[in-house]
Amino acid sequence: MGLLGKDLCDTNDITEEALAELVSCAFSVAEKGPPRNRLKGRRVGLLFLEASTRTRVSFQLAAQALGAEVVSLDPETASVQKGETVVDTVKTLEAEGLDYLVVRAREAFLPHLISRETWLRVINAGDGQHAHPTQALADVLALLSVTEGARWKNRKEVGRWLTGYRVLFTGDVQHSRVFRSVADVFARCGAQIGTATYPTLGLKVAESFPGVARFETLAEGLRWANVVYPLRVQRERLASLPFSSPEEYHQAYGISRLTKGQWLMHCGPMNRGVEVAGRLAYSEQSLILAQVKWGYCGRVALLATMEADRF
Ligand code: CP
Repeated sequence: MGLLGKDLCDTNDITEEALAELVSCAFSVAEKGPPRNRLKGRRVGLLFLEASTRTRVSFQLAAQALGAEVVSLDPETASVQKGETVVDTVKTLEAEGLDYLVVRAREAFLPHLISRETWLRVINAGDGQHAHPTQALADVLALLSVTEGARWKNRKEVGRWLTGYRVLFTGDVQHSRVFRSVADVFARCGAQIGTATYPTLGLKVAESFPGVARFETLAEGLRWANVVYPLRVQRERLASLPFSSPEEYHQAYGISRLTKGQWLMHCGPMNRGVEVAGRLAYSEQSLILAQVKWGYCGRVALLATMEADRF
């Protein structure tokens, strides 16, 4: 048994030991480049059933950098259009000789369902409002790299890597898979998590997320936080918008300024002028492009570690 199991469907598939290895491997990728032939002779399929730029491109580049052949399925032209089920598509890809399958899905838990039906090694690239584990890996790396430099290595316990960070999630927390995965991994690394959201976009009372500070107002949350993480309003998951215009939303809950020393994170895609002011996006206090860069390094590390693992 290796550090990771057969599949990576959720953040709870990443143990503390595996996280430490993935972070160490990703930093080595950033410094020395990827282990070029680790996936030589392997085939990696990208099954993106929902739109993506960052995750799709970085998985493709990561797999190619490791020497794999990459097969990308376009749902618009694949046979799912003719009524083939996703499971039958996956069985077909098995027979075509694939080894790994990276899945992005509108439906929560589709990667889990697929993983039970196939011997391909399945990686969740974001499923509905449930989970986005490799975004969490990218974000830990981005925050460690710019704020801690090499010091994280001295904090041997994963649970101490992000001590002292108070991360405020704003925007559409309720429908966000990114919140569920990133908050989980950040908290396991010692960060404190808070939310300040439009009333109908907050976590449902019934949803247990232990230790989350829920702020009544954005101003209160912003006074507390040293990392601000606005989330996009997930229009595609809302029957109707709970505010009358993007301008009204921005006035009430958009991030339009940062205090000295406060970091801005956003997983993208962002809606400028809605959850965040455009002029902050690439400011010196923004980690947005660092998140993209570390997304690539993290995904190289993940594929390389899965390949090195026996399971
Ligand atoms: N952060 C993220 O998952 O972005 P994409 O949807 O562009 O992949």
